[in-house]
Amino acid sequence: MISSPFLAVNNAGRMDIQQENTLKKIILLVALWAIPATAMAHDILGFPRHKGVEPVVNKKYSSSCGECHYAYHPGLLPSRSWKKLLEPKSLENHFGDNAELSEKDRLEVLAFLTENASETTWHFKRSVKITQSIPEDVTPLRISEVPYIKKKHMEIPREMVKDNPKVRSLAQCNKCHTEAVEKGQFSRTNVDIPNFRNWADLID
Ligand code: HEC
Ligand code: HEC
Repeated sequence: MISSPFLAVNNAGRMDIQQENTLKKIILLVALWAIPATAMAHDILGFPRHKGVEPVVNKKYSSSCGECHYAYHPGLLPSRSWKKLLEPKSLENHFGDNAELSEKDRLEVLAFLTENASETTWHFKRSVKITQSIPEDVTPLRISEVPYIKKKHMEIPREMVKDNPKVRSLAQCNKCHTEAVEKGQFSRTNVDIPNFRNWADLID
């Protein structure tokens, strides 16, 4: 007979119920201890804890990429997209513009973007939706072409976007989403389309 209470067996070669329950409890405790607290909350509750995307800021990024459009939150694209956008060749011809950076700045910006990309911020609802909507073999270069984002804007008439002199493109997220830049919030209740009435009034 082995003396450890967990390995002890009765005559039928089985652990008795009490031993089995103790063993189960220990396995559960070890498993819970092994999962980081945040992941646990996510798994148990089954949904991300924050709305929007993470409103992270980096000075180098804001000055390098916030000149022609707002410095998009890193959580709006997966890291593979940021890597492709930040290749020296891509930056040379960035949607028809030149967005070249010194090698030092490029690497700093790239690190910030990939470290905070959509698949790393699974505790933010919009980032999760964005990541999940993109097929694994696709690398979008535009946030506005991410299936989830595209779908959300499908019903907005052209006159409010492309033909709206105060917007011109869906890429100008912050023109309509009033709480986007500072808070990373893109809720439909905080939309105000320039030249048009508050979207919330239109839909209600
Ligand atoms: C010289 C101006 C300029 C700079 C600097 C610049 N961009 Fe852009 N960016 C553009 C233009 C123009 C577009 C296309 C906008 C449109 O279609 O309306 C664009 C579009 C984008 C888009 C796609 C937007 C969408 O969803 O359609 C991303 C992502 C992007 N830029 C990231 C960056 C990053 C990262 C940097 C810094 C390395 C950067 N940009 C710097 C001009 C610039
Ligand atoms: C022309 C104004 C406009 C622009 C530009 C725009 N949006 Fe929107 N967006 C809207 C409106 C209006 C809705 C609400 C649509 C609806 O009622 O379902 C919306 C909805 C959303 C939603 C879903 C919100 C919810 O509560 O379900 C997200 C996420 C979003 N936009 C992100 C973005 C991002 C990211 C960009 C830039 C790449 C962007 N939007 C550009 C007007 C805009």
